[in-house]
Amino acid sequence: MKNSAGKVYIIGAGPGNWELISVKGLRIIKTADVVLYDFLASKELLRFARKNAELICVGKSDGLHLFEQKKINELLFKKAKGGKIVARLKGGDPFVFSRGIEEALYLKKKGIDFEIVSGITSAFAAPESFGIPMTRKGKFSSVAVLTGRKSNGDKIDAPRCDTLIYLMVVANIKNVLKAIKSSGRRISTPCAFIERGTTARERIVTGTLADIEEKAREHSVNAPAVFIVGEVVRYGKRIYGHKFK
Ligand SMILES: C[S@@+](CC[C@H](N)C(=O)[O-])C[C@H]1O[C@@H](n2cnc3c(N)ncnc32)[C@H](O)[C@@H]1O
Repeated sequence: MKNSAGKVYIIGAGPGNWELISVKGLRIIKTADVVLYDFLASKELLRFARKNAELICVGKSDGLHLFEQKKINELLFKKAKGGKIVARLKGGDPFVFSRGIEEALYLKKKGIDFEIVSGITSAFAAPESFGIPMTRKGKFSSVAVLTGRKSNGDKIDAPRCDTLIYLMVVANIKNVLKAIKSSGRRISTPCAFIERGTTARERIVTGTLADIEEKAREHSVNAPAVFIVGEVVRYGKRIYGHKFK
């Protein structure tokens, strides 16, 4: 017997440049009945949707929520239950500092078929766009991806590893720097903000733990941006001279 219920694909749309979506993700967008997308997912991907596909912006970004998460979950359920193929586009990777897992758990509980389609996370893609690697064999072997904002007011993490990458960090940079410095890292450690990485408006602001807060203020660094800390930041200069695009 044919199952008449639809399916939800929770797709990582990549870090901002639309070409950084997976072939699989793009294929699903082209065939979906409904496309639900966040602010951080590149709008250029929408032109690949079918002409009669329903496009819904559920618009979650720093500080602006068009839809509550509960409503998004219910919408995904309603559309799939009605037999639709739903492409749920999320910025970066859907399981990296994203509510993709909440959506998956909800759909699982409701008995709706779903699949996770990985995306390229901004945590890696934004620094890489300026030639900054995460690791280097024999030199830098550990990397942590962290949040710069703790919803429960807990202390920010700054674990002992070679490279630290913070997301959702701009508004709370003071506390993030406090945590990093009190973990014993040298004040001369290089670091950088990468704003709108991989897009036509990307830019980088570099400094050290001592002066980055002031530099970020001077250059009006805004979200979305990642903050990377560690000796790896120096490679960006060697490779690209910290290009400004
Ligand atoms: C809610 S998190 C979503 C992360 C996403 N799931 C990912 O894997 O990239 C939003 C944060 O991602 C980071 N971000 C997203 N896109 C970015 C970009 N193009 N450049 C720099 N940072 C970005 C920012 O730190 C932003 O505050």
